[in-house]
Amino acid sequence: MTIDEKTGRDLDHLLAGGDSIDGLYEELRSSFDAEKSAIGSEEQHKAFRDRWAGRKNGLLTHANEHWLKKAPRELKPRVGRLQNEAKKHVEAGLAEVKEKLGTSQEAKSSIDVTLPGPPRLLGAHHPLQLVFDEIEHIFHGLGYSIAEGPEIESYYYNFEALNFPADHPAVDEMDTLFLEDGSLLRTHTSPNQIRIMEANQPPLRYLVPGKVYRNDTADSTHSPMFHQVEGFAVDRDITFSDLKGTLDYFLRRFFGRDTRIRFRPSFFPFTEPSAEVDIYWEGRGFIEVLGCGMIDPSVFHHVGYDPEEHFGFAFGLGIDRFAMLKYDITDIQLLFQGDIRFLRQFR
Ligand code: PHE
Repeated sequence: MTIDEKTGRDLDHLLAGGDSIDGLYEELRSSFDAEKSAIGSEEQHKAFRDRWAGRKNGLLTHANEHWLKKAPRELKPRVGRLQNEAKKHVEAGLAEVKEKLGTSQEAKSSIDVTLPGPPRLLGAHHPLQLVFDEIEHIFHGLGYSIAEGPEIESYYYNFEALNFPADHPAVDEMDTLFLEDGSLLRTHTSPNQIRIMEANQPPLRYLVPGKVYRNDTADSTHSPMFHQVEGFAVDRDITFSDLKGTLDYFLRRFFGRDTRIRFRPSFFPFTEPSAEVDIYWEGRGFIEVLGCGMIDPSVFHHVGYDPEEHFGFAFGLGIDRFAMLKYDITDIQLLFQGDIRFLRQFR
C-alpha cells in the first residue's frame, strides 16, 4: 500500500492489517524525505508542499483525519504526539528545500562583475611570416623593394624567358603542375625577374616572396606547395662580388654572424655563372639554403635590356626551409596544418 492509500484509511483498519502506529508515522516521514530529495525547482517545491502540507488535501491532513481523529481514546496522546512530530518534520523539510532552491536561484541570477572575464586568445604570427619579415627587414636595409606576382603563370614566364630550352628536361625535373588551358602553377618565383624587368628600367633591387608549386608527394621535407623569395639586382656595374657580399651579409644577419658559408658551382638556365650556397649546421654538416648566380645575358635579351650595358645577380631561397632551420622544425607539414598548439609557440 502506498502512503497515499494508507493516509486514506482509518487507523483501526490499518492496525488490524498489521501496521503499528510508530511504523505508520515512520513510513510517512521516510516517504516525505524520499520525495524531498528529488525537488529541484520552485514549481516542484510548490506541488510538493501542497501534496504534504495542503490544508484540505495534504497527506498530513489525511493522517490527522484518519489516524489521529480515529484513534481510540487511550492511544490519542501517543498518536497526537507522533502527528505533531510528523508535522514539524514536514515543515522543517519544506523550509530546507525552499532555502536550498533560493540560494541556487540567487547564484544563477547574480553576476559578479568584479570577476575577471574569460581570457581571449591572442593571435600569433605564422613562422613563415616571421621569417619573411626578417628577410624583408634585412634587404630593406639594402635598398630592396617588395613585389609580388601571379601564382598561375604562363610557360613563357616560368621557363622560356628564363632561358629554359623548349622540351628541356628541367621542365619535368621541376615537376610542373599544368592547368588544362596550358598555363601552369609557377614552380619558382623567378618568373618575377622577367615581369619586373619588363615593366621597369634599371637600377633595380627587388625581393619577391610567394607560394610555388611542384608535383611532389608530401612528406616531412616535401610539400606540393611551398614558399620562396626571389631576390635580384640589376645595374650597370654589378659583379659576382656584389652577389657574394650581399648573400654573405644576409645569411650572417639571419643565421648569426659566425655562420660558415660555402658557395658551390651549380647550374641554372637563367644565371651564368650559377652557384648554390650552403651553410654549416652543427650536427648536420653543410646544407644547401639557396640558389643564385649572375643574370644570364639571354634573360636580358628577353626583356629588352642591353647585356653589354647591364649586369645583375639573382637568388632564390625557400622560406619553409629557412623557418625549419631557424625554429628547429623537423616536419614541414606542421607549417601548413594550422594546429594552434604549434602556431601559438611563435609570438
Ligand atoms: N629559381 C631557382 C629554383 O627554384 C632558384 C634560383 C633563383 C636560382 C634565382 C638562381 C637564381 O631552384
